[in-house]
Amino acid sequence: METTNRVGFSSKIGFVLAAAASAVGLGNIWRFPYLAAEYGGGTFLIVYLILVVTFGFAIMITEVAIGRKTGLSSIGAFRKLNRKFAFCGWLGLLIPVIITPYYSVIGGWVAKYMVTYLTGHGSDAASDGFFGSYIGGVGQPIFWLLIFVVVTCIVVVAGVQKGIEKASVILMPILIALCIVISIYGLTQPGALDGFVYYVKPVLSKFSGKLVLAALGQLFYSMSLAMGIMITYGSYMKKENNLESSVRMIEVFDTLVAFLAGLMIVPSVFAFSGGNEEAMNSGPGLMFVTLPSVFESMPGGHIVGGLFFVLVFFAALTSAISLTETIASVIMDKLHWRRSQTVLLVGIFVFVVGIPSSLGFGVWSHVAPLGMDLLTFFDFISNSIMMPVLAFLTCIFAAYVLKPKEIIAEVEQFGVTFKAKKFYSVMIRFVAPVGIVAILISSVMAGLGVFSW
Ligand code: PHE
Repeated sequence: METTNRVGFSSKIGFVLAAAASAVGLGNIWRFPYLAAEYGGGTFLIVYLILVVTFGFAIMITEVAIGRKTGLSSIGAFRKLNRKFAFCGWLGLLIPVIITPYYSVIGGWVAKYMVTYLTGHGSDAASDGFFGSYIGGVGQPIFWLLIFVVVTCIVVVAGVQKGIEKASVILMPILIALCIVISIYGLTQPGALDGFVYYVKPVLSKFSGKLVLAALGQLFYSMSLAMGIMITYGSYMKKENNLESSVRMIEVFDTLVAFLAGLMIVPSVFAFSGGNEEAMNSGPGLMFVTLPSVFESMPGGHIVGGLFFVLVFFAALTSAISLTETIASVIMDKLHWRRSQTVLLVGIFVFVVGIPSSLGFGVWSHVAPLGMDLLTFFDFISNSIMMPVLAFLTCIFAAYVLKPKEIIAEVEQFGVTFKAKKFYSVMIRFVAPVGIVAILISSVMAGLGVFSW
């Protein structure tokens, strides 16, 4: 990938759609709703939205601009701009290495639910204890993890990502439409309006440092930031395309899907449980427990459920492809291995390392670092610690090594004006780096019991 003679995206919309296909995934549909449910609904939503338009905007502009400026993916890009910062590229690679295995475990859960619905067993999925006994098992979830990894690898080896991305252009709008239909249905159910209020209304007392850290980690995860991925996408972007408006479009798209997924899940779980705290805090299992109950009571619910899981499977697949491709491309660049050999190796790694995350819900549940199951632990380390650290380093690099004027010049080519350039400069130089450090420190201190807010 370390060549400047890249085959660019043929159009601005091509870039936006490919980046959106990477960004929209389980982060939006699976992760966002359970965090919103856990962290007080509207309070989390508002903090998240503020972070999207401030930190998210500034960091995404920076990453895409670095990629386009150098024409390289992250390791080469950082090294080319300043050798001392080459380690940022490596750190950016380590994050997908941690994420991809557990991402594939969730991808496997989605595959299992998809097949359950498509084979006419939707009612089983809605029965009490189905999810818990499924993820607590050994063979089944590992089998579906394997299936998800194999499908991802086949797509990457066959080099048919383009085809999948084209398909996702059609499938993503259908996913959005379906989320709207399911949300409307959910909102008409008894008790759901209180759930809606919970989802959108901020309550000051719910605000905490931990919430802000969770929202920050979610921002990076959902927008595929702080892991070098947007640098790679930027490297394929044409100089004459408008970088600022492209970034805005990706942000809007990604946030819209997350908002709708939350709207589909949070009010319903609130209605089913009467706002019971334990149900709201059910974490990674929330989507898999709540939605089958919604589908069960919905006319034609099994068909809607089947379609829903097919679409989520595609969204997860496009993201997993982009994660796998990132890891594989570095190995191919450095070791000059063949594509098939490299992807096989990455696939084996992802599968093997994914197994502990899967077993953490069953036979290995006693292994609980920081009191978390293994999947949540890997998720926490990558999203809440490593990504903020890398995002901070990216801000420092852009603001004080490269300087914002370089980024602004990259955006302003072919007569394009960077409309938010003043805002960008202030964000990248002061607000984002100071904010990220403050959030990290305060939540670590709260974790250590020094103070809590
Ligand atoms: N952004 C993706 C999601 O929301 C996850 C992802 C991260 C995909 C990084 C690719 C790269 O699911």
